Amino acid sequence: MTGPAQELLIVDDPEALAREAAKRVITRIDESARPAVCLTGGSSPRRLYEMLGDAPLREQIPWARVHWFVGDDRFVPSDDPLSNIGMARKIFLDRLAPRENVHAIPTDAPDQDAAAAAYADDLRAFHGANQLDPADPLFDVVLLGVGPDGHTASLFPGMQHDNGNRWVIGVATANVAPFVPRVTLTFSALASCRQMIFLVSGPEKRAIFARIQRGDDLPATRIRSNALTTWLVDRAAAGNAA
Ligand code: 6PG
Repeated sequence: MTGPAQELLIVDDPEALAREAAKRVITRIDESARPAVCLTGGSSPRRLYEMLGDAPLREQIPWARVHWFVGDDRFVPSDDPLSNIGMARKIFLDRLAPRENVHAIPTDAPDQDAAAAAYADDLRAFHGANQLDPADPLFDVVLLGVGPDGHTASLFPGMQHDNGNRWVIGVATANVAPFVPRVTLTFSALASCRQMIFLVSGPEKRAIFARIQRGDDLPATRIRSNALTTWLVDRAAAGNAA
């Protein structure tokens, strides 16, 4: 078995970034009998979601077979504009994915910890196992963004990052706006994928991307797929690395 690999691809602009990400997501879907895609929130994936939901790429996705998860969400109702899965639903999932294939974090639970426990149950039931197995990853592809403080998903700097064998945790206090509680997959659950793809775009990401490249100890630096991690970065964010 080969160890984890990393690659960096610098592209011209946000449009090219979305196109390269879409290509990879579709390849992973093609290669899997029951594809599991873990989506991300924030503004970075918007264009990618539009592309997946529009012609010509829409026709390349076997919608009945693909299951959609989310790596983290804000603890708000699913129709709240802050909801990560709500954004993906509005842009493409509600039109195209069977309802039972969309695995939202249940933010109608009593609190973020109860929602985390329920989502872990959903993931375990889907996966058919209680333990993560490097030979049988949870996801075919995990999408992630980077925050200005180096967080990814809702794994913030300064948090306890050893979560034992927990797959999902509640986060009472976010480090950056929006300051609502969060629910996030853990490092080990997110790492359990065939490919992890970071989407990093725009000049406002240049400083944090430079820190990640320097190897500063940040959640986004630390997290790695157990198999392949791909950094898709546009020129504006790449700065000197471009
Ligand atoms: C969230 C996210 C978070 C996001 C980054 C990047 O819920 O906020 O999942 O980790 O991906 O903060 O956000 P932008 O794409 O908006 O820059």
